[in-house]
Amino acid sequence: MCGIVAYLGTREAPPILIEGLKRLDYRGYDSAGVVVIKGGGLVVRRSVGRIAALEEKLDAQIAGARVGMAHTRWATHGAPTEGNAHPHRDASGRLAIVHNGIIENYRVLKQYLETQGITMESQTDTEVLAKLIGHFYEGNLEDAVRRALRESRGTFGIAAIHADEPNKIVAARRGSPLIVGVGDAEYIIASDAAAIVQHTSQVIYLADNEVAIVTPEGFKTTNLEATPVDKHVDELEYTLEQLELGGHQHFMSKEIFEQPESLRTCMRGRIDLDDSRVVLGGLTSVARELINTKRIILTACGTAWHAGLVGEYLIEELARIPCETEYASEFRYRNPVIDFGTTVLAISQSGETIDTLAASREGRDKGALVLGIVNAVGSTIARETDAGVYLHVGPEIGVASTKAFTGQVAVLAMLAGFLGRRRHLSHERLHEYLEALAGIPEKIAHTLNLNNQCRHIAADFVNSENWLYLGRGIQYPVALEGALKLKEISYIHAEGLPAAEMKHGPIALISEDMPVVVLAPRGHWYDKSVGNIEEVRSRGGRVIAVATEGDTEIQHIAEHVLYVPDVPELLGPLVTVIPLQMLAYHAAVLRGCDVDKPRNLAKAVTVE
Ligand code: F6R
Repeated sequence: MCGIVAYLGTREAPPILIEGLKRLDYRGYDSAGVVVIKGGGLVVRRSVGRIAALEEKLDAQIAGARVGMAHTRWATHGAPTEGNAHPHRDASGRLAIVHNGIIENYRVLKQYLETQGITMESQTDTEVLAKLIGHFYEGNLEDAVRRALRESRGTFGIAAIHADEPNKIVAARRGSPLIVGVGDAEYIIASDAAAIVQHTSQVIYLADNEVAIVTPEGFKTTNLEATPVDKHVDELEYTLEQLELGGHQHFMSKEIFEQPESLRTCMRGRIDLDDSRVVLGGLTSVARELINTKRIILTACGTAWHAGLVGEYLIEELARIPCETEYASEFRYRNPVIDFGTTVLAISQSGETIDTLAASREGRDKGALVLGIVNAVGSTIARETDAGVYLHVGPEIGVASTKAFTGQVAVLAMLAGFLGRRRHLSHERLHEYLEALAGIPEKIAHTLNLNNQCRHIAADFVNSENWLYLGRGIQYPVALEGALKLKEISYIHAEGLPAAEMKHGPIALISEDMPVVVLAPRGHWYDKSVGNIEEVRSRGGRVIAVATEGDTEIQHIAEHVLYVPDVPELLGPLVTVIPLQMLAYHAAVLRGCDVDKPRNLAKAVTVE
C-alpha cells in the first residue's frame, strides 16, 4: 500500500528519497512521485509504474535539494495516472503534501473549496487535502496542517512542505503509520521503518492525531489542537541485513528458509523447559483477567485469520476455553455480542491492517480485554491493544506471508500452553507439549529439504488452472493457507476445504486436470483423509499428499507424497504448511510471476 518518505538534513535529498521508496516497494504501488524545495520554489516529478520510471525524470533541476518528500501510490480514488500521483499541491503551487489513507469527507471539503474558487486537477482525495491546507495557510505550515486535519474525516499519514518555510517538514497521522527517524543533523520521515533503517535506528512512532514538526533546529510534536506532546525516541528492531535478499532470488524464498531461525527467535525465552512453563512477558499485566476469560474471539484477515483458526483448535483443546475466529472485516461491522469476560485477540503481521484495527477497537469499545499478536513493533495495533505478544520473526518483505504465519501459530501455541496449564493441563502433559514445540524449528529445517521435490511437483502441474486443498481438523486451516498462497502469487485458482465438505459439491470438479493437495499426516483424522484420497483417485483426480515420514502405504494411492517429520498432531500445521509454501513459490516462479509483488496486492492493507 502507499509509501511515504520525507527527508530534511544536510545531505542531498533525492537519492535518499528514491532509495527509501525502493525499500518500500514491497508494499505494492502503481505510481510514484517526488517533490523538493529548490531555488525558492517546489520541483515536482511524477510517473506511472515502477520507481525506475520516476528516477529517469530526476534531472539537474531536482538535484542538490536538502529537503524533499516522495511517495508511492496504490490507487484508491482515481486511476493510477501521473495526474493522480502524489505529491499534490495547493492552489498557490508552493505547498505540497504526500498522503497515505483516505479522506472520507473529501467531497464535502471539495465543494467548500470550490465555493472559494479553488478547483481540482486530479480525482484524488489527497489533492483536496492539499488545497484545504493551502487555503488555511497564513505563514505557518503546522497551523494550517492542524486546522485542515481537524476538518478531515478518515485516515491519513501525511507529510507537508511549503516553499515559504524551506527548512521545515510537517507530518501527521491518524490510522496510517508514520515514523520519524532521528539521525545526525537529519530527519527521515517514513510510513515504514524499512525506509529509515539504513540511516538511523532512533525513531519516534507518531500516535493517532499527532503532528511532528521537524526543522534543522530539532523536532517537536503536538496534537491537532497544538498542545505539545512528549515523545520517546525508540530503538528500531530492524537491521539492514534483514532487508536484503541474502543470496535468495526472492524475499519469499528467503523468508520460507528463515523459518527455523525466525521461530527460534519467536520462542526464545518464552518456553522454560526447566520449570515447564510459558513466559509471555507482554501478558503479565493482564494475566489474571486473561486466565479467567470465558470466551476468546480471534480476529484477523487473510493468512493471519488462518493462523487464528489454528489457534482456536489449540486453545480449545488445551485450555478448554470457547473460541471463535472471525474475519475482522465482518466482525467490525456486525455489532457482535461481546459479554463480560470476553477476550478479543487481534492477529496481524503488519499491525496496521485497517479491518483488524477496527475489530480490536470494536472489542475495546464493548469492554473486552483486547490483546494483540503482532509482528511490527510499535505498530498501531500493538500500541492500541491492552497487552500482547510480539512475533519477533523479523521484517516480512514478501507480500505473501510465510514466516509470520508460522510465528503467529507458534505464539498461539505458546498461549494455548500458558492458558492450558492454568485451566486443566497437567504439569507432565504441558512439559511434553512444550518440549515438542521447542523442537519444531529443527523439524522445519528438515522439512525444507522438500524444496526440490516441491519444484518438480510444481513443474508437473504448472499448467493446471484449478487446484483443490483438503484438510481435516487442525489441518483444515492449513488447506486454506496452502490455497491462498498459491492463488495470490501464481494467479492459479485454488480452493481450500474441510475434506469432508468435498462430497457436498466440489467433488463435481474432480478431473485429471485438477491437482488435489490432501493434508494427511498421521493422527486422529488420518483414516478419513485417506478415504478422501481414494475418492479423488477413483474419479480420476491427481493427488499430492502431505504425509508423515514412514507412512509407506500412502504412496500406493497418492501420485506424489511430500513427507514431513512426525510431530504431535496439534503442532502439525507448523510443518505441513512448509511444503505448501514451497509449492506455491515454485509454481509462481515457473509461471514467471512477480513473486514478491503479486499484482493488485499490497503488503499492508491500510484502507478498506
Ligand atoms: C497473504 C497475506 C494476507 C495478510 C492479510 C493480513 O499471504 O499476506 O492475507 O495475511 O492481509 O495482514 P496482516 O497480518 O498484516 O494484518
